[in-house]
Amino acid sequence: MTISYPGAAITGWGIALPDKIVTNADFEARLDTSDAWITERTGIRERRHGGSTSGLAVEAAQAALDTAGIEGWEIDLLILSTTTPDQAVPATSSTVHHQLGCSGAAFDVNAACAGFVYSLVTAVSMLGAGYKRALVIGADTLSRITDQEDRGTAVLFADGAGAVVIEARSDRELLLSHDLGLDGSLTSILSCDHGGYIVMEGRDVFRRAVRASVDSAAKVLEAAEVTVDDITLFVPHQANQRIIDAAVQRLGLDPKKSAIVLDRTGNTSSGSMAIALAEAADEGRLGDGDLVLLSGFGAGMTWASAVLRWGS
Ligand code: ACO
Repeated sequence: MTISYPGAAITGWGIALPDKIVTNADFEARLDTSDAWITERTGIRERRHGGSTSGLAVEAAQAALDTAGIEGWEIDLLILSTTTPDQAVPATSSTVHHQLGCSGAAFDVNAACAGFVYSLVTAVSMLGAGYKRALVIGADTLSRITDQEDRGTAVLFADGAGAVVIEARSDRELLLSHDLGLDGSLTSILSCDHGGYIVMEGRDVFRRAVRASVDSAAKVLEAAEVTVDDITLFVPHQANQRIIDAAVQRLGLDPKKSAIVLDRTGNTSSGSMAIALAEAADEGRLGDGDLVLLSGFGAGMTWASAVLRWGS
């Protein structure tokens, strides 16, 4: 089936990270772990802790609005991807919508670490239904739901947000293909009860994450009728450098094409891919017409990939 997507362009992007840096040495000082173990097994050297999900979301979104050169009221669709909402009710997007002075619709999406791509695909689809300018934000404060005494999870999960402005543009094509999926029989391998901490079967998540990411990425490349050689930038979910390396190798991608922030951010869930994409854009790694491959996975177990054509 050939899918036709509405014309659109990413015209703004932004990042928000809390000020507090937590290094591997900080964990080494109080847990039975070491900088060497964390760096070798995960690729993470430091991460950020602090702030609220809405606060980080607003900061990243304001930066994205500034890049796009527009104001909050010009947004008529706000989608906030998060697994760590400020409150159970109302949706955190309500707070963000109010603080930015947006117009129109706003809602939260929870598809864990695949949520930013779920939200991006939803936003582009809704531009086809008449919305004009969307803010898509990925924001999480995982440190709040991580047991800081558990060496197995504390070193991995952290806080941060990234955002993009997507505008309806009939002269542009943004989304070339997408794949959104999940296997709900795997809810138990990574979960967090209300008021509790994240529990994870790390080795099982690792194995399944590589397979899900590779299969999903291969699907979107085929659907877009492009190869890995046509891709300028690969934006993977930033969970573990070894997962990224395995995926890159299996896909036959040049590792230099990967956008990597996890060494400095840890796993920020919904924030992860948005931050990596925005940093690459800030660094001038993307030119008009370049193809971007996004591929992520998360609790659920969800996965999501897309091929985008960059250009505003
Ligand atoms: N420091 C030292 N030792 C540790 C640490 C630590 N921080 N954490 C675990 N270990 C120990 C384990 O206890 C185990 O010890 P044992 O052999 O005595 O039992 C040993 O290291 C090996 O444990 P493994 O789990 O086999 O280690 P592995 O190499 O698989 O790395 C890790 C663990 C980093 C968790 C890895 O499995 C991983 O990254 N999994 C994927 C996690 C992930 O991506 N989660 C996010 C999903 S996205 C979302 O929705 C949030």
